[in-house]
Amino acid sequence: MVEVHEDLIVELQDATQTFGVVRALDGVSIKVGKGEFVGLAGENGAGKSTVLSVLSGLIRPDAGTIRLRGHEVPQRDWSFHKANLAGVFRIYQEQALLPNLSVYENMYLGHENLFSRAGTINRRRMRALARQHMEEFVGRSIDPGALVGGLSWGERQLVEIVRAFAIASLLEIRSPLILLDEPTAAMTHDDLEAFYSLLGRMRTQATFEEASFLLVSHRLDEVLRLSDRVYVMKDGRVVDEVTDTGSVDEADLHAAMVGRARAHNYYCEDRQRSSFGRESIQLRNLSVKNAFQDVSFEVHEGEIVGVGGVTGSGKSELGRALAGLSPIDSGTLGIHGHDVTNSSVGERIGKGIGYVPLDRHSEGIILYLPIDLNMTLSALRQSATTGRFILSRTKERATATQAMKRFAIRAPNCTVKPADLSGGNQQKVVMARSLVADSTVLILDHPTRGVDAGAKHEIYQLLRDLADRGVAIIMITDELPELIGLSNRIVVMRGGVVTQETLSPAGAKPSEEDIVKALV
Ligand SMILES: Nc1ncnc2c1ncn2[C@@H]1O[C@H](COP(=O)(O)OP(=O)(O)OP(=O)(O)O)[C@@H](O)[C@H]1O
Ligand SMILES: [Mg+2]
Repeated sequence: MVEVHEDLIVELQDATQTFGVVRALDGVSIKVGKGEFVGLAGENGAGKSTVLSVLSGLIRPDAGTIRLRGHEVPQRDWSFHKANLAGVFRIYQEQALLPNLSVYENMYLGHENLFSRAGTINRRRMRALARQHMEEFVGRSIDPGALVGGLSWGERQLVEIVRAFAIASLLEIRSPLILLDEPTAAMTHDDLEAFYSLLGRMRTQATFEEASFLLVSHRLDEVLRLSDRVYVMKDGRVVDEVTDTGSVDEADLHAAMVGRARAHNYYCEDRQRSSFGRESIQLRNLSVKNAFQDVSFEVHEGEIVGVGGVTGSGKSELGRALAGLSPIDSGTLGIHGHDVTNSSVGERIGKGIGYVPLDRHSEGIILYLPIDLNMTLSALRQSATTGRFILSRTKERATATQAMKRFAIRAPNCTVKPADLSGGNQQKVVMARSLVADSTVLILDHPTRGVDAGAKHEIYQLLRDLADRGVAIIMITDELPELIGLSNRIVVMRGGVVTQETLSPAGAKPSEEDIVKALV
């Protein structure tokens, strides 16, 4: 372990931050040493992202001080750009790159002056350096001239990380501080290992051997594995500090986060059903061009079918196609005996389909519309096709308030905009919304992404409740324990086709190895 008190990169002292009535930070003090890798764990809404916003100059806290390499940062003068110049870089989970600019333009965005002489920017040098930095830091090259919008998710993440090191290198900063906010939340099994080895390589790069990291993540295994030291936050305060990450396990860390041990029966396996009702949804040789081919399976009332697969397996595309968001090229889709292959989204909702999308920002919720209105959106759609739903603002609020309680959504009340909630709480709004709509077939794309360990358990219980009520559930997920723990049956996809279908009965679950073999 690195000695903390020597060579501090950053020291945040007594930071306080309120948003309206919410006290996001309540006297937070943390330190990161040179070359140190520090983790930040805590439940949804604990204040983790706010700490990163303060350190990266996005928010000026109400009170508190920041010291960088021993010098106090003049608050009035602290901004995201200044933070970059001082060697502090934040890497986003919801990536901050501009899709219609090229890789090299994104890489040095805001620092073009470093390439200019007599008022003109030397774009050739920029491009060449981008290529060189890519090769130097990640050992592979992405065409610097390619538009970022055309890159895969993983490639964009790579550009985002290399960007931090590239600018640090240009500015000749040998000890940058890299702030990572849930960098792996949306990564699949195969991307994870690549990401960890990239981080490992960065840490041993001679140029950056003094680089420091502050990592926020809900993957507790990864927090413990990567970090030298971990702070635990709760309700805007640091409540614990784990200095010996080698002798602590996930369950210990979880207990420190929530103040109690992790539920013994995390996936509620004892509640898994073994008998089902009628067939609810039927996929027959379903194909969507460039996404997946020839997918066939069915789900019965009360059954949970898990769909697993690595990036590019086509599993999320399958979810979108079932919801009606992308047209089906061939094959048939039936819901409760009705052919809905060519039905619109609205018609499918009318037949009972509910969908929780992967991308909560573009399809899930409307960030600037109050929670209660967000909740009743799909119910509204339903009324357009069935005429069954009569809108009442009072009823709407009551429904929303109830759903917020059920999901432990941390917000002052149901008229707050999701934009003002923490990431995990936004995700819970998406889940809650889909469940308010009384669907009989539910398609969930990564239902627990970005959600903390306690709230995950709540969601698992809820899925069991729904199954008991006869809802047919298709759960698309990258988390193997969840895929195995919750499902009655597991469908594994690879390269757009189903490669394996495995039963996963309570008490006789397949092992992770069994599933991984079919994944890759
Ligand atoms: N811009 C904002 N306006 C109002 N409230 C906010 C704003 N940003 C954060 N909050 C509130 O501050 C609290 C802390 O939020 P923060 O995003 O730091 O949590 P977090 O620990 O990152 O949670 P998660 O794990 O869900 O991402 C939350 O209650 C959140 O709703
Ligand atoms: Mg957050």
